[in-house]
Amino acid sequence: MNSKLNYDFFNALMTDSTPEKFEEQTRKFQEIMMWYGCAIREVKTKLEVLNDEFQITRNRNPIASIKSRIKKPISIFEKMERRGYTMTLDSIVEEMHDIAGVRVICPFIEDIYEVADMITEQDDIKVLARKDYIKYPKPNGYRSLHLVVEVPIFLSNQKKPMRVEVQIRTMAMDFWASLEHQIHYKKFDAGEDIVKDLTDCANVIYETDVKMQQIRKEIVKMAGSE
Ligand code: GTP
Ligand code: MG
Repeated sequence: MNSKLNYDFFNALMTDSTPEKFEEQTRKFQEIMMWYGCAIREVKTKLEVLNDEFQITRNRNPIASIKSRIKKPISIFEKMERRGYTMTLDSIVEEMHDIAGVRVICPFIEDIYEVADMITEQDDIKVLARKDYIKYPKPNGYRSLHLVVEVPIFLSNQKKPMRVEVQIRTMAMDFWASLEHQIHYKKFDAGEDIVKDLTDCANVIYETDVKMQQIRKEIVKMAGSE
């Protein structure tokens, strides 16, 4: 991690620099990050429960894998700065919706919507935002279903609603997004030809996703059950 920016990050969180203030602010920051870690665990458990239930009742898994991450301090700093927000612990919690991130990878497109419906219908989950980049892909071909949800975590003396960004996509969409992220996303201007090639790849991958979905439907129909 870039130590200058890391220093700036904590410096920006302090009004006057005393060792006590620094200690207090870093401890609070760690506590908040711990809350986000707990929120990730809550969401992951919910998803794992759904997958276990499907395995028993329908003999298949709508979720192939789950990844998660907590945004690094440096990325929080850069995003807050980019958006022009003052750097306080309160404003970080208020303004950022993607400090806690969970990525759900599904075999088929239909699984994405089924998983999204099941999770958002749970009565302790509040949906704050939903962006369907599958129905409305980004111009570069990026596809995923994004949700920002609020999930409660239970601490010793309080219940805290925490925001978690959930990205749900097929294995194929994830394959494309992972490679595109490495090659292009936010790094440099790769030039029109490469951007077009990547978009073409995204569209071919999507066609394959749709085809696989149709094949699965045919097989289910032939077999007479799921
Ligand atoms: P961010 O500031 O990037 O968080 O954007 P946002 O708050 O407007 O949200 P958006 O829905 O655009 O994207 C959030 C996240 O989705 C990103 O941090 C990436 O993980 C992923 N994402 C969005 N667009 C792309 C893309 O074009 N390529 C790849 N690989 N990932 C993307
Ligand atoms: Mg983000």
